[in-house]
Amino acid sequence: MTTTAPDTGASAAARVSVPFDAVEVAQRFGTPTWVYDAATLEQRIAEVNRDGVTVRYAQKANSNLALLTIMRKHGVVVDAVTAGEVLRALKVGYMPEQVVFTADLFDDDALEVIRTHRCPVNVGSPDMITQLADAGLADIPVTLRLNPGFGHGHSQKVNTGGTSSKHGVWHAQIGECLDLAKSHGVRVRGLHMHIGSGTDFDHLSQIGSAMVDAVRAYVDHGGPGLEVISTGGGLPIPYRKEPGQYQRIDLDRYFAIWDDALKQVRAIAGREVVLEVEPGRYLVAECGYLVTRVRSVKAQGMGDDAVGYVLIDAGFNDLIRPAMYGAYQHLSVVAGDGREITEQGDHVVAGPLCESCDVFTQGDEGFVETRRLPTAKVGDVVVIHDAGAYGMAMSSNYNSRRIAAEVLHRDGKLDVIRERQPFEQLTANERVPQDL
Ligand code: LLP
Repeated sequence: MTTTAPDTGASAAARVSVPFDAVEVAQRFGTPTWVYDAATLEQRIAEVNRDGVTVRYAQKANSNLALLTIMRKHGVVVDAVTAGEVLRALKVGYMPEQVVFTADLFDDDALEVIRTHRCPVNVGSPDMITQLADAGLADIPVTLRLNPGFGHGHSQKVNTGGTSSKHGVWHAQIGECLDLAKSHGVRVRGLHMHIGSGTDFDHLSQIGSAMVDAVRAYVDHGGPGLEVISTGGGLPIPYRKEPGQYQRIDLDRYFAIWDDALKQVRAIAGREVVLEVEPGRYLVAECGYLVTRVRSVKAQGMGDDAVGYVLIDAGFNDLIRPAMYGAYQHLSVVAGDGREITEQGDHVVAGPLCESCDVFTQGDEGFVETRRLPTAKVGDVVVIHDAGAYGMAMSSNYNSRRIAAEVLHRDGKLDVIRERQPFEQLTANERVPQDL
């Protein structure tokens, strides 16, 4: 079953338009620079913000403080997978009880932050229950993240269910975990499932019935009064823009499935239970653009066999999704000098890193592919679309490149929300022993 919302008739051109002047961004802020469009972000928030549903943003997709502030203003709460993410949320004014720590283990930092701030925990392994109690934190509210035995994602690397996934407590171990929690005086109050990222409707809709089964097992085992169930995240976005390939998930149908599951859950639990959704990508992917400059245009090979390369000044240290998952990111080319680009060609778009896989046009197995694009010249701007989720958040300093700047586009204004990393920071924490 592929269920997408009816196409609203938005033209292919509208789907790929850039809502700010990319050349101005390149000139004012340098390249590469991330730009987030606040209106798009707010539109996506409004689409999932439904009566009676708690929206918990998976900030691993993008944890910039300005975006977290927008989330908070719109009543969206947050998930955190590390101590650092908990602290980011608190920094923008979330109350600790609005932040759920979800992970498969505690490291020392996480336990310390939870001890200090007492935010709720979504445990992904039985050991976490014991460790919470051992740390004297048995009174922290706990939910159980379950692995329902199946999973799915846009790539096998983001599938978080089934036996090949490290995530969550195996669904058949609910009883065991409830017993363990009881023996330690830990109070379980809810169940959570997240089967993968960029999932399709078919798999997402199976979580509803898996959750109903889990709630039945929970109640049969005498679990404490159930307060909340969470669907996890995984909602896909339309990375492909071409007519026929453009697919936006039908959220009305998604929520109808969960409405139905929630009714059954309430009947089984015999009480009010709150429904949470936990999207990351759906909220932030489409608002984000990575603005880059073309620095070289060359061909590898001769004659008809020649492959055209457009080299831009962003690499996989900035946006790793194509190199890591073979993920598709839409690209557009904007003339740097205002000329009209009429010619098109098949090009590989690649970056500056000293790695062969530093290519933005590649398939699943790392095969370099060409893409039909307006023919670019040195100085033109290449904009990478749908880069708001798992873009900046997965950036690194590989090859000693600086973390790029981030800019918020709001009501025609462009505000820097992260300065480009200064070079000094690259070595600030390094020490050369004096006797070396
Ligand atoms: N909840 C939990 C517990 C998660 O682990 C994740 C994502 C989400 C929610 C949000 O999933 P989303 O709605 O964004 O699909 N780097 C990969 C995605 C990794 C997702 C990790 N967990 C990518 O670029 O596609």
